[in-house]
Amino acid sequence: MLSKTLETVINDQIKHELYSAYFYLSMSAWAESSNLGGAARWLSMQAKEEQEHALKFFEYVHDRGGKVTLQAIPQPPAEFTSMLDVFEQVQEHEAKVTALITHIYELALKENDYASQIELQWFISEQVEEEKNAAQIVDMLRMVGSQPQALFQVDHELGKRAAH
Ligand code: FEO
Repeated sequence: MLSKTLETVINDQIKHELYSAYFYLSMSAWAESSNLGGAARWLSMQAKEEQEHALKFFEYVHDRGGKVTLQAIPQPPAEFTSMLDVFEQVQEHEAKVTALITHIYELALKENDYASQIELQWFISEQVEEEKNAAQIVDMLRMVGSQPQALFQVDHELGKRAAH
């Protein structure tokens, strides 16, 4: 059975993952309105992944005999200044999510909750991947600067993101 402490932080994490989905969807909407169809697709696919993360935690709480209590999701920002601005915010956001997941893992370690540690290891690996992807896109965007042709190319590449 999940401890009350872990139940609480995992419930909080469900909210953070749903907020991530909301945040990415808002970025996707901005990209779509800015004629950046490739980035819009990349971001909406990321929003779907975040919903899956929320559901993975949701199911885990139930599997361990805990109770899910959904919380209010804050309104995400709707305006961004550029594609670089968007992906810098993605990078910063994922670093925060990594810190949240690490904190839950530390609690699971303290409680000797091995099942939660195993569950959280998947999320820790996922965060490595997400931070790496965000950093690569930010690097690419910093390199191209504001050259329209190169930005168009990056947007095209982002649009090739495959479903996992
Ligand atoms: Fe669910 Fe982007 O971490």
